[in-house]
Amino acid sequence: VSRPTKVGALTNALENCSVWIRGRAQTIRAVGKNISFVVLREREFTVQCVVTVQPDTVSRQMVKYVSGLSRESIIDVEGLVSVPSVEIKGTTQQVEVQVRKLYCVTKAVVLPINIEDAARSDAEIEKALQAGEKLVRVNQDTRLNNRSLDLRTPANLGIFRIQSQVGTIFRQFLLSEDFFEIHTPKINPGSSEGGAAVFRLDYKGQPACLAQSPQLHKQMAICGDFGRVFEIGGVFRDEDSHTHRHLCEFTGLDVEMEIYWHYSEVMDIVDRLFVTIFDTLNETCQKELEAVGRQYPFEPLKYLPETLRLTFKEGVQMLKDVGVEVDPMGDLNTEAERKLGQLVLEKYGTEFYILHRYPLAVRPFYTMPCHDNPAYSNSFDVFIRGEEIISGSQRVHVPELLEERAQACGIDLKTISAYLDAFRYAAPPHGGFGAGLERVVMLFCGLNNIRKTSLFPRDPLRLAP
Ligand code: 4AD
Repeated sequence: VSRPTKVGALTNALENCSVWIRGRAQTIRAVGKNISFVVLREREFTVQCVVTVQPDTVSRQMVKYVSGLSRESIIDVEGLVSVPSVEIKGTTQQVEVQVRKLYCVTKAVVLPINIEDAARSDAEIEKALQAGEKLVRVNQDTRLNNRSLDLRTPANLGIFRIQSQVGTIFRQFLLSEDFFEIHTPKINPGSSEGGAAVFRLDYKGQPACLAQSPQLHKQMAICGDFGRVFEIGGVFRDEDSHTHRHLCEFTGLDVEMEIYWHYSEVMDIVDRLFVTIFDTLNETCQKELEAVGRQYPFEPLKYLPETLRLTFKEGVQMLKDVGVEVDPMGDLNTEAERKLGQLVLEKYGTEFYILHRYPLAVRPFYTMPCHDNPAYSNSFDVFIRGEEIISGSQRVHVPELLEERAQACGIDLKTISAYLDAFRYAAPPHGGFGAGLERVVMLFCGLNNIRKTSLFPRDPLRLAP
């Protein structure tokens, strides 16, 4: 079955060849009555198509029809590839197509946003406005209300290809390390992380909630003797935080594994997995990263071949040394995390690092206390550019201690009875972690809002589209 030639494949090598291409009419411009130009866009590639009156192929009527096409309509063009003597401005391809036939496959109605304007960087917008150009700044809500149009910009194509690649590398790396993929239930009798951030629902007359994390079930898979597992799946949080980094639904990258002597075995996996993700993105997503950077300029992530590990205590001390007082047995707030990120960058030259041995009091009930000092825990958080992307720990595998910890953290034991039972039949020592896919992509690309890396974001104010 024949398929159209890709717009991105139109080069000098095809000069004088007849091609069939399909794309969207990005712009349509008539020059007098005998000639029209259509810039056709397919994904991130654009080419200029020239419609000129010609005795046996193109009539005046045809030129008029083309001039009346609406932007973003899907167009089929048949024509000859030509190489103009001057540089073509404003298209990615340096050839033109001399149109012989043109069909409108699907017609677009008038657009609520102009894709070209939506694709400009802040600096380009400023420049255009100063030059007196008429353009409408497309704000985030308008973008998200019209997300399927907004997704047509090169930066957005880049973001979601990068996101896809993160998932692929995550899966491939873990498969090669003897993990296998599981799918845990998303409707559960209770919460897993404690706290109120859970969506409640009625499950055939029983109180239930949407999975706040695959936490309990991934651990139960380890009790089931699966050894090493991972999951890529939806996670639901009834957030009330209206911030740049909280969603009510996000994609969790979760890992759980048996350990033999120390929770650093889990941190070793985090280290090698994420360095592999960053290396591979830098190698294979150069074009996508450039497309994102053209609209949202950012510096490439600075990271070390072996990920820096600091203890929570060391982090607190670094903050103290510069006059930032934090509770040494509390959690770090967003501001302190940011500040520590800066200090770590200055001292160690990395924007990616692990902070471990957190105070037990700020960690979920399933976290293993440190055996030399139970005020601390065998746990860690991981940061990119001063913001958390991962939390993980060794888990309590001793049923008596697990029950005690759950009770101390105010968990209703009835809602986790099957989980507790799973440990009574002997569970191996184990640990794991969870990362948020949208946060990983946001922070790797230095973006300022998680809504940019969620395809159709769900936040406290948004349930559609
Ligand atoms: O820190 P969290 O809540 O940890 C857990 O869910 C544990 N069960 C993980 C484990 O295996 N111990 O969430 C893990 C990660 C965070 O580091 C963050 O990247 C992301 O999930 N995350 C969110 N992303 C977007 N919106 C939110 N509201 C998020 N809450 C957490």
